[in-house]
Amino acid sequence: MSPNRYKAQPIRPSEITPEHIYYSRRDFMKGFSVLSAGAFLAACSPGASNTPAPNGSAGVETAIELRDESGDPANTIEQITNYNNYYEFTTDKSGVASLAQDYQPRSSETATDWTVEVYGLVNKPQTFGMEDLLTKFTQEERIYRLRCVEGWSMVIPWTGFPLAALLQQVEPTSAAQYVRFETVFDPDQMPGQKSRMFPWPYQEGLRLDEAMNDLALLVTGLYGRELPAQNGMPLRLAVPWKYGFKSIKNIIKIELVDKEPGTLWSSVARNEYGFYANVNPEVDHPRWSQASERRIGESGRRPTLMFNGYAEDVAGLYEGMDLRVHY
Ligand code: MTE
Repeated sequence: MSPNRYKAQPIRPSEITPEHIYYSRRDFMKGFSVLSAGAFLAACSPGASNTPAPNGSAGVETAIELRDESGDPANTIEQITNYNNYYEFTTDKSGVASLAQDYQPRSSETATDWTVEVYGLVNKPQTFGMEDLLTKFTQEERIYRLRCVEGWSMVIPWTGFPLAALLQQVEPTSAAQYVRFETVFDPDQMPGQKSRMFPWPYQEGLRLDEAMNDLALLVTGLYGRELPAQNGMPLRLAVPWKYGFKSIKNIIKIELVDKEPGTLWSSVARNEYGFYANVNPEVDHPRWSQASERRIGESGRRPTLMFNGYAEDVAGLYEGMDLRVHY
């Protein structure tokens, strides 16, 4: 198991065809520099652009290929930023981007800035601002599949750092068994939160060993740039072997606890959205099959893979468990 499998791979000139290249290394690195701490804050200011890095005319030997480790191309920035589930804004996937365009990160309706609090069963509780996260933790790029429980999927080039690195900093005690995540509650900026249809704030959880798995990524960027508001700016989770609803957006609290935490979706429909929510083509949703999926940008359907294709990295976490019971 190597996290390098999930990084963009430099490719040889002989392998290059135009559709394989999104931009040259120079453009790519330019994009990454946006994620330096000072620049990030500027990037969050009104008017900051979410436009993609320019398509590469690419000096040949510096090309970077944005494909996942199985060879599938990354979805375009337009697809990733215009087809979103983010119920705090709206349940209309194509409406999130415009409703979120002026969103300013802050930790509550009354706070003036954004922080994430990491606390609970830990020896060293800490509160981090975005600059802390970007300077204390080495940012990496990972190309992950995202498989929504609804039956669609994308390939997304995220930037971020392992959740395990953050948890190690706060030193979970031996009593800590689970991690609970909470999204900001800010109905002034998030019109969907004015609706009583859902028990806000959005909450999610992982078992501690799942959270410590190297695949679990805290995401700070997309396509080498700041994370767009509609994708969960400023900090979201990516747990690619689980259905997309586990990958909670806009996290302001991370709590180490001793019992399985409640989640928004399990409180809405426990029999439809379980705590584990591992991608599993053999366990159907009560109302539809999970055997196949529609990759955004493709016609037709493709088979869904066990653990979304990440079995090698994560199957060991569930040895001896009946995945039909712990769905
Ligand atoms: N996080 C919050 N806070 N609110 C949400 O509505 N939707 C989830 C997940 N995280 C959601 C969330 C679902 S169902 C999916 S499929 C993914 O976000 C979608 O992420 P994307 O819009 O970046 O593709």
